[in-house]
Amino acid sequence: MKFCVLTLFPRMIEQGMSESIPGRARRQGLIELQTVDIRDYTEDRHRRVDDYTYGGGAGMLIQAQPVYDAYQAATKECDKKPRTIYVTPQGRVFDQKLALELSKEKELVFLCGHYEGVDERVLEEIVTDRISIGDYVLTGGELPALVIMDAVSRLVPGVLHNEESAETETFDDDLLEYPQYTRPECWHGKSVPQVLLSGDHCKINAWRLEEAKERTRAQRPDLYAAYEYRQEVIRWLSRQKRLHIHMMELLKRNLGRVLAFDPKDGALLEENTGVIMLTCTSAEAGERLLTASGMDFTGCLFCVCQEEIIPVLRGRFQTTQARGCYQAYYTRGVPLPVRKDLDIRRLDESYAEEIFAEYHELVTLDELRGHLARGDLYGAFVKKDIAFDRENAGYELAGFIGTHSEGALGMLQVRPRFRRRGIAAALEAYMINEALKRGEIPFGHIFEGNEASLHLQRKLGLNVTDVCLWWVW
Ligand code: ADE
Repeated sequence: MKFCVLTLFPRMIEQGMSESIPGRARRQGLIELQTVDIRDYTEDRHRRVDDYTYGGGAGMLIQAQPVYDAYQAATKECDKKPRTIYVTPQGRVFDQKLALELSKEKELVFLCGHYEGVDERVLEEIVTDRISIGDYVLTGGELPALVIMDAVSRLVPGVLHNEESAETETFDDDLLEYPQYTRPECWHGKSVPQVLLSGDHCKINAWRLEEAKERTRAQRPDLYAAYEYRQEVIRWLSRQKRLHIHMMELLKRNLGRVLAFDPKDGALLEENTGVIMLTCTSAEAGERLLTASGMDFTGCLFCVCQEEIIPVLRGRFQTTQARGCYQAYYTRGVPLPVRKDLDIRRLDESYAEEIFAEYHELVTLDELRGHLARGDLYGAFVKKDIAFDRENAGYELAGFIGTHSEGALGMLQVRPRFRRRGIAAALEAYMINEALKRGEIPFGHIFEGNEASLHLQRKLGLNVTDVCLWWVW
């Protein structure tokens, strides 16, 4: 992730991004920071960048020209226009969801205003997003830019050392975090709640959930209402768990939102990158849900649970392709055995072409790059046979697996030379074990007719549904 900040106070930005976790991430090369001093681009002899506002009023405004020239200089090497954020109290209020969205960009440009603001004309030309960090007014945009960069940085893969801590925290599922305690066991006469000393993780998790709910109910009734609504939909979906595993996991993992729900008709969900998921009690019920959402789904990718809704989608949104998938899911909760002879690890963007050469069905090279940047793909490496390859000793990528944006395991491929050695099973077992650590139910979708994959799922102990769900586009 690269941040570029256009500012009148570059030292403030440099300092704020030099300490603690963002500082470490910069030193590790996981995030890059460029600051551009707007004043270096003024054409004024006295290095002024501001002037009076037309129409009168108190205060000064930053002029268009130095901002525009600073922006041009900073972005001249970008292949596409980067997302450019003007931090302003007049913007969309920043939250965790927006942090997650921004963390998926390769580059972010920030423009920090001062005085009364910036000439509107340059904002119209360069800015893609206006973001506020809350309903109060600061003296400038540097602190808001630092706030946003901090929240985004910790979501960049590899920045937080304990990967889990990025995922099980406040706001993750509309709940505030539960209270936490460390040593000593008793302080100022207050003891740590007994349950936390019990070692019973089921009880501990139940206690934490109750505390988180209680806190949220008291402090943030708005968040609590959203949580309750989501739970209601999950409860409804769980009446047909096998059919709805993917939709339940989408909501539980906070990978999407509810667009429409009616216990008589069904549920319509939108995954964060735009995949639409639908389950309905009849084709008419499905139509009602689509209409109730008030959205136009032309060009969308759908995942639907009932075949009878496909003609409706064809009629309304000109979808033409449909493919049936079986759903495989692992509900045993017991980790699978791991193989010690394989080195399985996360793949970075340098593997994009190598992977695309093996795996290019229904995915573009750019989409693969996006998956790699988000840390979605893992590779299995085997030691090279030195007898045959003296020049290139070391490890070689034998196969890979990933997680699709809606949470399904997939993209599993083993290179032809390495097949029939159990590498696919080892990769999938690895992903299942990682998902179990996060408290998820691992699942995947297998196209009708892919007997090899169906066989693998059963061998690993996954259940496979006997009816299909449908991907339609
Ligand atoms: N600039 C001044 N105040 C701000 C705020 N609350 N959010 C974003 N930018 C700002």
